[in-house]
Amino acid sequence: MADDRPLIVVADGIDQGAVAALSEGPCRVVDATAGFDSLRPHLGSAWGLIVRSRTKVTREILGLAPNLKIIARAGVGVDNIDMKAATDRGVLVVNAPAAATTSVAELSIALYILLVRDLLGPIGATRSGGWPRGTHGHELAGTTVGFIGYGRIAREIARRLLPFGARPIAHDPFLTSSPDGTPLVPLDELLSTSNIVSLHAALSEENRHLIDAPHIARMRRGTYVVNVARGALVDETALLAALDSGQLAGAALDVYEVEPPVRAELVRHPRIIPTPHLGASTHEAQQRAGSDVVQELLRALKREPLKYPVNPEVIGRP
Ligand code: MLT
Repeated sequence: MADDRPLIVVADGIDQGAVAALSEGPCRVVDATAGFDSLRPHLGSAWGLIVRSRTKVTREILGLAPNLKIIARAGVGVDNIDMKAATDRGVLVVNAPAAATTSVAELSIALYILLVRDLLGPIGATRSGGWPRGTHGHELAGTTVGFIGYGRIAREIARRLLPFGARPIAHDPFLTSSPDGTPLVPLDELLSTSNIVSLHAALSEENRHLIDAPHIARMRRGTYVVNVARGALVDETALLAALDSGQLAGAALDVYEVEPPVRAELVRHPRIIPTPHLGASTHEAQQRAGSDVVQELLRALKREPLKYPVNPEVIGRP
């Protein structure tokens, strides 16, 4: 007998327990995580599409999916989805905005400490048989950490930084008042007073290369830059030049303009701590992200109110 349950196509690896909740219930599920060749044959009959950040949902991909009703992004950022094309087509996009908050906050604090204590060099030297015990690095206590973008993740970091004795400040053009007492300051003030500039903004055309040569020049000499948000927020050429000149003391990058990064200096530079876009990749965050988007898909199927619609304006359109 033909299986006429709606087809959900899983394009990027997500938590298997979450997928089972769909396939054992009201949906057919197909694994298309092996790249575009595995995805393409299923697009024509897909009702729903689950992605992380690897799959780029372009207007062309949407054109191959005439029956698609919903894209579920198992994560926060939707910059890998052509939101205008999806909305024009009436395809609903949902995400899992809260799933990775703790994981990304913890990673950020780990990176701040690795940077200010300048631990990468001594770790490498000790591994190579050295024993470099000289006076080294600084305390996180007493530092000013400036958040560019003050959403869920940055607020969680700020809350967790207070017991360390660090001072959070934030710049966010979408906020008119501080949600938690952290001072909101103009961008110039943040750049010129922070010891660590930590990026947490969603990527848009307006903030692409926000951290460029002029903005880096406004920072104090010896500032650290941490990017766990999106690579294109930073002009990587300007960042490398500022690390070489000493204007920046160090940087920690979890995200890159092109992933995996094609510029070897971005992962090999002695003053950069590189990680491979793993802020949200803990077991806990991935279970939450999988479960959050699956629950959202089930709500959409039952036409129940949604928790995380990104383009709610399409709801109810024929
Ligand atoms: C996100 O936006 O959720 C993160 O960058 C992690 C991911 O790629 O899913």
